[in-house]
Amino acid sequence: MVNYKELGLVNSRDMFKKAMDGKYAIPAFNFNNMEQMQAIIQACVETRSPVILQVSSGARAYANQTLLRYMAQGAVAYAGELGLDIPICLHLDHGDTLELCISCIETGFSSVMIDGSHHPYEKNVELTRAVVEYAHQRDVTVEGELGVLAGIEDDVSAAASVYTSPDQVEDFVNKTGVDSLAISIGTSHGANKFRPEQCTRDERGVLVPPPLRFDILEEIERRIPGFPIVLHGASSVPQDKVASINSNGGKLVDAVGIPEEQLRRAAASAVCKINIDSDGRLAMTAAVREVLSRKPAEFDPRKYLGPAREALKELYKHKTSHVLGSAGRV
Ligand code: G3H
Ligand code: 13P
Ligand code: ZN
Repeated sequence: MVNYKELGLVNSRDMFKKAMDGKYAIPAFNFNNMEQMQAIIQACVETRSPVILQVSSGARAYANQTLLRYMAQGAVAYAGELGLDIPICLHLDHGDTLELCISCIETGFSSVMIDGSHHPYEKNVELTRAVVEYAHQRDVTVEGELGVLAGIEDDVSAAASVYTSPDQVEDFVNKTGVDSLAISIGTSHGANKFRPEQCTRDERGVLVPPPLRFDILEEIERRIPGFPIVLHGASSVPQDKVASINSNGGKLVDAVGIPEEQLRRAAASAVCKINIDSDGRLAMTAAVREVLSRKPAEFDPRKYLGPAREALKELYKHKTSHVLGSAGRV
């Protein structure tokens, strides 16, 4: 049993309070390997941003939960070495069982998500409540979810987005005791967030996605004033990265994300945490493809993972400085 406080990590409570008061959002970046962790920490130290390091089920399967926890512990020391002790929260992304949440909490996670959104409402309440009861005894914060995002949420799949019902949020928050709530207002996971027929096209033929449902967000804010809201599936899918991947042998078709302007608006609202994974995947893949197509004889992984790490860092700095507004808050 390891407590996150011994590792220099923090839970999300204070981060969200400051983000709510300051009208910005904390970046929640997924990581699966050393280069991603380094890029996140470098970017957040350089832009003086607090950060949430997220571990998904896919990341646990790929890299091992314990190794990722040690990496997060290393991230605390690494930030200090780079010159600034930024607040770092280690968060389980899309936890699906009480047992998994307990296992993460016992191995040093400072925050967990219990995603019961695919269960019937009462079951979601019961499961989330059980996680909160365990987590709060150890001062670990808990994110719950109401409403289902389109696309794949790890094991959670949905044909279409089921928007969060504002009528349920107050009851859910009161009954479960969660510290933050992920909602569905039209975002979705991955690099193909919308089908082309759901979009319009601009004058250059580029897909323009349907706008997020800010009316639902505003109604939720009215029902639970000052309560931290989380946005999943918030990658923007930068079209320059998509074009770079495709011009170096890739085949991404109709990739489309959430326009940054809408994320800026969300970050200034009760949305205190914005999840970004796919944009990092695109930035890394674009950089790796670019190096390997320019230098086909290269076989030293550092020669393509190094540029990929650099591209990731630039992407994250852009997010904290120009989208989420978390830069300069430490
Ligand atoms: O919400 C999903 C995240 O992007 C993590 O995806 O399970 O493939 O790591 P993953
Ligand atoms: P994206 O796929 O839009 O990056 O969303 C990531 C996410 O929500 C992780 O939980
Ligand atoms: Zn998610």
